[in-house]
Amino acid sequence: MRFFKAFNPLGRRAVHQASILPGPLALAGGIIGLSIGGYYCLDSRSAIHEYVFCPLIRAFTDAEEGHKLGISLLKYGLAPKILDPELNAEDAKILGVDVFGTRLQSPIGLAAGLDKDGEAIDGLFNTGFSYVEIGSITPEAQPGNPQPRFFRLPRDDAVINRYGFNSTGHFSVIATLRTRFSKLFGQSGQDAPSNAFRNGRLLGINLGKNKFGDEVEDYVKGVDRLSPYADVLVINVSSPNTPGLRDLQSELKLTNLLTTVVRERDAAGANLLGKIPPVMVKVAPDLTEPEIESIANSAKLAKVDGIIISNTTISRPVESLRTTNRELINQAGGLSGKPLKPLSLKALRTLRKYTKDSKLVLVGCGGISSGKDVLEFGKAGATFVQLYTAFAYKGPGLPAHIRDELLAELKKEGKTWQEIVGLE
Ligand code: FNR
Repeated sequence: MRFFKAFNPLGRRAVHQASILPGPLALAGGIIGLSIGGYYCLDSRSAIHEYVFCPLIRAFTDAEEGHKLGISLLKYGLAPKILDPELNAEDAKILGVDVFGTRLQSPIGLAAGLDKDGEAIDGLFNTGFSYVEIGSITPEAQPGNPQPRFFRLPRDDAVINRYGFNSTGHFSVIATLRTRFSKLFGQSGQDAPSNAFRNGRLLGINLGKNKFGDEVEDYVKGVDRLSPYADVLVINVSSPNTPGLRDLQSELKLTNLLTTVVRERDAAGANLLGKIPPVMVKVAPDLTEPEIESIANSAKLAKVDGIIISNTTISRPVESLRTTNRELINQAGGLSGKPLKPLSLKALRTLRKYTKDSKLVLVGCGGISSGKDVLEFGKAGATFVQLYTAFAYKGPGLPAHIRDELLAELKKEGKTWQEIVGLE
């Protein structure tokens, strides 16, 4: 204080008054500053989210705590948003894609596993995803594997998880979805375009099985109970963390499972908005070409509507990893993020080869983190894409940044997304 007084030409009283009564100019400046700061933080594209908040969260939490915190922020509307959710007519024509009778605003979707219990659906759509997939949901609540079960490999923009389908179970998720449905249906009335309650967006529900559950019956229950709330149903037979699950990808078992599921979907009838939800199956990246061919055959025979390729990998492409900690690399579970991209892209290309003669929608997933990646998956045969790990690292601005980048890439090529994926 003595130091300050020595340089204060107005004397002690002025200092005292200024400290308790800021002048109108300072007050206005403060309000303007706070408003600009608030607006800046509300905008998901702001660099502060990727370069300050996300690294801070990573520094002070382990992977699972960070995941929970992220879901809470999105759930309670505390996460930033895309400030231009709708596109102008020209950009909408470039990015739009026809999927299951809906014109998706863009081909950018969120993969399953982030919002397992459907708690943060609207917060996620508000970041700019055109498709959000919740789950996997199991019939009965189960805790999943013991912790720790989620590990970051930041040098590779990758994670390894062995959550093992921790789920609050069908009935708890149904209660959450029902509350959301009543609230949003009340606001939008009969005009609700989908369970996303937004134009050009779809809500997917991903179904899993309990650790000791029945390998067909568990999915049948999921279709029966959750199809009223779904725009799309996803049968997950590719998580590496439930013993025996991936064996369901063999041709005989898969054909039987998917045929039963499609029959159940038909019996369940329309969802609460009067539409029949299409069924997709989600498969692993660790498959040989004959295995991929047999999956294509099963999907065609059972008349499912699409295939998501892929889930996490059980392989460890060690030669391409920057992480050197062998203990970390060798943690049991599925690896996702950047190192997965070459595997999932290759699997997608192979699958495309065997589904060209069908109307199956292929969804690309695995290591996508930029507009260029999305374009690569589109050219490899994906009608639209999903991502998870890059969103966990880069934060809520990623869907907006990818949308901007993809738009720029498509303009450079002078093509629409529909033209890239052969729908026009
Ligand atoms: C997943 N994934 C996943 N998939 C699924 O079908 N059901 C699930 O419950 C989960 N759970 C899950 C948890 C965690 C922590 C991760 C990282 C991933 C797989 C996910 O949907 C996606 O297929 C892969 O992560 C590959 O995409 P990215 O992450 O490389 O973009």
